[in-house]
Amino acid sequence: MPDARKPLISGNWKMHHNHFEAIQTVQKLSYALDAEDALAVDVSVHPPFTDLRSVQTVIESDKMDIALGAQNCHWEDKGAFTGEVAPPMLAKLNVKYVIVGHSERRELFGETDDDVNRKARAVFAAEMTPILCCGETLDEREASTTEAKVEGQVRAGLAKLSKDQVGAMVVAYEPIWAIGTGRTASAEDAQAVCGFIRGVVSSVAGADAAASVRIQYGGSVKPNNAAELMAQPDIDGALVGGASLDADDFSKIVRYRLA
Ligand code: PGA
Repeated sequence: MPDARKPLISGNWKMHHNHFEAIQTVQKLSYALDAEDALAVDVSVHPPFTDLRSVQTVIESDKMDIALGAQNCHWEDKGAFTGEVAPPMLAKLNVKYVIVGHSERRELFGETDDDVNRKARAVFAAEMTPILCCGETLDEREASTTEAKVEGQVRAGLAKLSKDQVGAMVVAYEPIWAIGTGRTASAEDAQAVCGFIRGVVSSVAGADAAASVRIQYGGSVKPNNAAELMAQPDIDGALVGGASLDADDFSKIVRYRLA
């Protein structure tokens, strides 16, 4: 599956970097990467909403091989939803990827599987690509309910999407106990769940969609563990939080193949 599953390395900046810091970070990142990197790997950065227009302008004026991403959106196109941002507003800024259902949105802001599915459908309706997050807590892992949790999130997240949409999207497996903790899943454990997710995608949307959907691993991805994770057959990318804030670290992750 060479081109269909070109690796995607995404930097989720969460609530970090104002628009000045965002511009500096994306400029440093672009200096650190070259044309071969762009051939080998897709890269996206997901700054806070207030930075998007500034980062878009820099990416486009300097013709950077970096895609713009968002961290969240609402599912409606417009309306009386104070504080929310609509998918068409993001599309207008040439946002390409939108993270939906990050565990912080689910756990801290009460997003349900149904909300996440509406968001995924709205992202596609606005001609962008959702990155659908799933993952278990430490308690769930210790109770051996990882697969049940992840399967439920993936099935609900993919509801009412076409097979073609599923094949074109990104699923991020992010064990909650590994996010921001410095505790990465072992490459074997990450592979086991990512392989399981591909099987769930196959049963929901068929073998072709499963063969082309890109599955990222996220949770304390760092320059020193990216290559091992990326070598796994069902891991097609990384969703990177903390280490994406620093352009040097993030560029090393993007260039994992040179490690
Ligand atoms: P981390 O975050 O890399 O800081 O663990 C990953 C994420 O939440 O996407």
